[in-house]
Amino acid sequence: MAWTKRVFHVWSCCLADSRPIVMSIHYYEPAAGHGLPHNPFNAIVAPRPIGWVGTTSRDGTHNLAPYSFFNAFNYIPPIVGFCSVGDKDSLKNVRDVPEFSWNLATWDLRDQMNASSAGLDHGMSEFEAAGIAIEQARIIRPALVAASPVKFECKVTQIEQLKTASGDDVPSWLILGEVVGVHIDESLLEDGVYQTERARPIMRGGGPGDYFTITEDNKFFMGRPE
Ligand SMILES: Cc1cc2nc3c(=O)[nH]c(=O)nc-3n(C[C@H](O)[C@H](O)[C@H](O)COP(=O)(O)O)c2cc1C
Repeated sequence: MAWTKRVFHVWSCCLADSRPIVMSIHYYEPAAGHGLPHNPFNAIVAPRPIGWVGTTSRDGTHNLAPYSFFNAFNYIPPIVGFCSVGDKDSLKNVRDVPEFSWNLATWDLRDQMNASSAGLDHGMSEFEAAGIAIEQARIIRPALVAASPVKFECKVTQIEQLKTASGDDVPSWLILGEVVGVHIDESLLEDGVYQTERARPIMRGGGPGDYFTITEDNKFFMGRPE
């Protein structure tokens, strides 16, 4: 079955005011196509934080590229990861020099972030091509984006090739790294507490170029149950 459209009724009391939930569902199994004008996957799993990743080639060329298949995976020690869909320069570099920088992509740096996604030949630096100033890291060899207000220095812990449910190799690689150094612009701290929205981080939506940013009025608090 490729895809179907059906009206879906849930007659148990699911909404707070006891109204039944009535939804018209577009169902699809991705292996057989989505049946929509655009694949909705990236727009559904969104907005995604951007891994603006700096790596270094064996000969010392500094590479920079955005990866929205990026997230944090552990708290202590902090571990972040990004996924190279295909054998990209960032992947080649972390195989040779197993370190990377993560740089917060902000509203102010959106054009530089986008410019750094250009497909340059291996050995060419996006820092140079896009005119992005470099800051030297303290622990790792890859460079930091000087103007980014938050940067992580990371050491690669795992490079895992993705697989399908039936065990076939997918030409995508998840690169995980332990965060061994953190740089924070102190203007983002209020009484020592990091204020996420103050840096105006940008996040990736779906389609060829949708992004989101966040502001103070998007914020709400919800404590966990006891
Ligand atoms: C916002 C944004 C997010 C991206 N996310 C990814 C991603 O998660 N995985 C990927 O393989 N490419 C992603 N790309 C495309 C890469 O940035 C692009 O292929 C780049 O040239 C890779 O650089 P590299 O070969 O120097 O590693 C993204 C591009 C943009 C603009």
